[in-house]
Amino acid sequence: MALLLSNIKSIIQIEEQTRKWVAGKEMSKLNTLENSWLLISDGIIKDFGRMDSEDFKRLVINQPDADIIDVNNKLVIPAFCDPHTHLVYAGSREKEFVNRIRGLSYEEIARRGGGILNSAKLLHETSEQDLYQQSLKRIWEIIRFGTGAVEIKSGYGLNLEDELKMLRVIRRLKETTPVEIRSTFLGAHAIPAEYKMNPDIYVDIVINEMIPAVSGENLADYIDVFCDRGFFTPKQTGRILEQASRYGLIPKIHANELDFSGGVQTGVKQGALSVDHLEYTGDEEIGCLLDSETMPTLLPGASFFLGLKDPPVRKMIDAGLPLALASDYNPGSSPSGNMNFIMSLGCIRLKMLPEEVINAVTINSAYAMGLEKTHGSIARGKVANIFITKEIPGYEFLPYAFGSNLVDTVILKGEIQN
Ligand code: NIG
Ligand code: FE
Repeated sequence: MALLLSNIKSIIQIEEQTRKWVAGKEMSKLNTLENSWLLISDGIIKDFGRMDSEDFKRLVINQPDADIIDVNNKLVIPAFCDPHTHLVYAGSREKEFVNRIRGLSYEEIARRGGGILNSAKLLHETSEQDLYQQSLKRIWEIIRFGTGAVEIKSGYGLNLEDELKMLRVIRRLKETTPVEIRSTFLGAHAIPAEYKMNPDIYVDIVINEMIPAVSGENLADYIDVFCDRGFFTPKQTGRILEQASRYGLIPKIHANELDFSGGVQTGVKQGALSVDHLEYTGDEEIGCLLDSETMPTLLPGASFFLGLKDPPVRKMIDAGLPLALASDYNPGSSPSGNMNFIMSLGCIRLKMLPEEVINAVTINSAYAMGLEKTHGSIARGKVANIFITKEIPGYEFLPYAFGSNLVDTVILKGEIQN
């Protein structure tokens, strides 16, 4: 099946030669192709060119069976890659939202048994089927916002059985939805109340029981630990990641959201694909990331929603780092998977340029979930995961119009989604 998009005002993030990421000054550059066409065949991007070239006329003759869509002067953008979410969860936590408005902090709520432990209780009471149905709705919601690839973590189970329940739901979402999914085992998301006095016992359970079981069922692509003040220490994190590496699980970890926790250094040392949050990033963390293959990933939805400080973005880019952005879609700190809004937060709160945020939610975020060879840009041979915008003047309009859904048509694996 071939699909030919014609009369495209501009193809954004187009690549003749694919790159693994863009870093430093390069982040403010974005390749585009104006007045163009795009050919998709068997779910793959086959070719592209300019409307005023001879190629287009030849193509129309040579591809008589292709469905031609007149894009009518709109933009074509790679579908967003969202490399950090917790979108498989049960229920919601708006009561904690109200408590925070009244003055309680996120950490205070967690200490009182709310927060992640509250979601774990709700998840325990929810059947696998119900959890799947709740999560499926969220997947379709993000597809309509233009997301074509998403990483999803466990971490609201906090015991073997419920962690496996979450991971099986993620596997079922992989099988039943057109979005590309990567799953991450996050047994070390919080310390369950019964181990509060002896957290190392819970760490031992993660290491000796959970990792082998998760691996045995081949349920996870990656491993995560919430390495931060009040959660897991760098030492505990290191032990968990060492065991994970024996099972071939690459880390993508939560680090430096609440303090200079040592999480960045721990993650980089263990070869993490990404370290995420990074509100507390200083010279030492930057130096360590510069020497690595780890993608620094920022979650401005969480710092916006919780009123936390923002990471030192300009310093990181000026130092030459690449940056990815993710939604962190979860019930406690970022109850939205809208990546266009995340781009707006990147511009408005983090003072990133539109080009920088677009790079951060496409090519760099594809790398942060191990998909840079197949997703994150419009390049020949990559998977045809794209969206057509509504009629907008240019790509800067996307982060500018922060409340609107500017996605018109989503095409995933070459298929139009409704
Ligand atoms: O990324 N920081 C840890 N985990 C999530 C929050 C999860 C929750 O509050 O439910 C986060 O912000
Ligand atoms: Fe998170």
